[in-house]
Amino acid sequence: MTATSPEEQEYRRRTPASARCFEEARRYLPGGDSRSTLFYQPYPALFTRGEGCRVVDLDGNGLLDFTGNHSSLVHGYCHPAIAAAVRRQLEAGTCFPGPTEPQLRLARLLCERVPSIELVRFTNSGTEASLNAIRAARAFTGRRLIAWAKGAYHGTLAETMSPEHPDAIVLPFGDAEAAVRRIEERAGELAAVLVEPVQGSAGMIPASPEYLRRLREVTSRLGILLVFDEVVSFRIAWGGAQEHFGVTPDLTVLGKLIGGGFPLGAFGGRKDVMELFDPSRGSPVIPHPGSYNANPMSLAAGEAALELLTREAIAGLNRNGESLRTRLRETLDESPATARVTGLGSLFAIHPSPADPALRHRIFLGLYCEGILIDPRGVGTLSTVIGAEHMDRLIEALRVVLSRLPAQRPAEPVAH
Ligand SMILES: Cc1ncc(COP(=O)(O)O)c(C=O)c1O
Repeated sequence: MTATSPEEQEYRRRTPASARCFEEARRYLPGGDSRSTLFYQPYPALFTRGEGCRVVDLDGNGLLDFTGNHSSLVHGYCHPAIAAAVRRQLEAGTCFPGPTEPQLRLARLLCERVPSIELVRFTNSGTEASLNAIRAARAFTGRRLIAWAKGAYHGTLAETMSPEHPDAIVLPFGDAEAAVRRIEERAGELAAVLVEPVQGSAGMIPASPEYLRRLREVTSRLGILLVFDEVVSFRIAWGGAQEHFGVTPDLTVLGKLIGGGFPLGAFGGRKDVMELFDPSRGSPVIPHPGSYNANPMSLAAGEAALELLTREAIAGLNRNGESLRTRLRETLDESPATARVTGLGSLFAIHPSPADPALRHRIFLGLYCEGILIDPRGVGTLSTVIGAEHMDRLIEALRVVLSRLPAQRPAEPVAH
């Protein structure tokens, strides 16, 4: 169905160099790929350059980027302050066989911003940070089972990639009553409940404060650790989504933007839990080695990025996000497409009606051809270098793309 869409024909016409490169990459990489969530048909475009909120693909097409590498680049590409910090670190040395000052500085920044993080450790990705939060919860409670919410993504972890995993159970996302019941049923076995305060990969879907509060209450009551995965949601407030929702987890997982565009993850929280990693009093209960743990390039970039992410910057991002979501809804409502818009703060997503599975893909490719980059899954994020004129361009491009779609039958009303 998508094979012959006008959007795909136009995409192919504009990206022949990407097509050639992708074909060659298939000879060396399975499916030409190392990052499965970014694959899309007919082939993903390759990028060569980014500056501010603009990226250029291999064919020289310039696009306004509303992905920020999937929320990592909260200040856009090559922000001068981040680039300068990275250059300084590059000249000083990219990695060392010991701790560095950038580690101390970023740890201090995170602990100051997020009161629930009493102690923190650095990894190279959000996946590793989730993994280590789970290890911590298992060692602390002496239990093995973890619970995660349907639709969640916590990285490439066996336990949270399959609903059938023997060491994991899946909770409904949104239905607090049912989630609490499910937790109570397995209370004696559960080490941790993992939850994204705003589900990112699932389509920027915020939890309700009530849902998070109920998870907090039941986990405290039953001695289970509550872990917030704030890899995506951290940008919502100065102290992360936990500050916004007013719910305090035991452990927090961070990633993406805290590395300022470089690979970095962090996990932290209660002192009594995090001390299991402490090697200073003999062998740690949980060893956590790693050649590039706390690598100073990522830490230096992350420090610069967090310093730029002031309360004012966050307020501006959130205002823009609110305004963009409203305009996206209005634009979709005026069009033949049936879709809803979700998000919080500077996170947004367009969810085409399930009645038309091809629509998401057509919108994605259509926007690409109009010079706008969003995630193939329909999610997007704003950065501090995106202004009113860029959001105008997105809305205008969406209007053009939607105007080319055939009229649809009316679908059931959808909630925003
Ligand atoms: C909420 C969430 N947690 C964890 C991860 C994993 O982070 P990484 O890709 O750095 O391993 C992601 C990545 O998309 C994510 O969205």
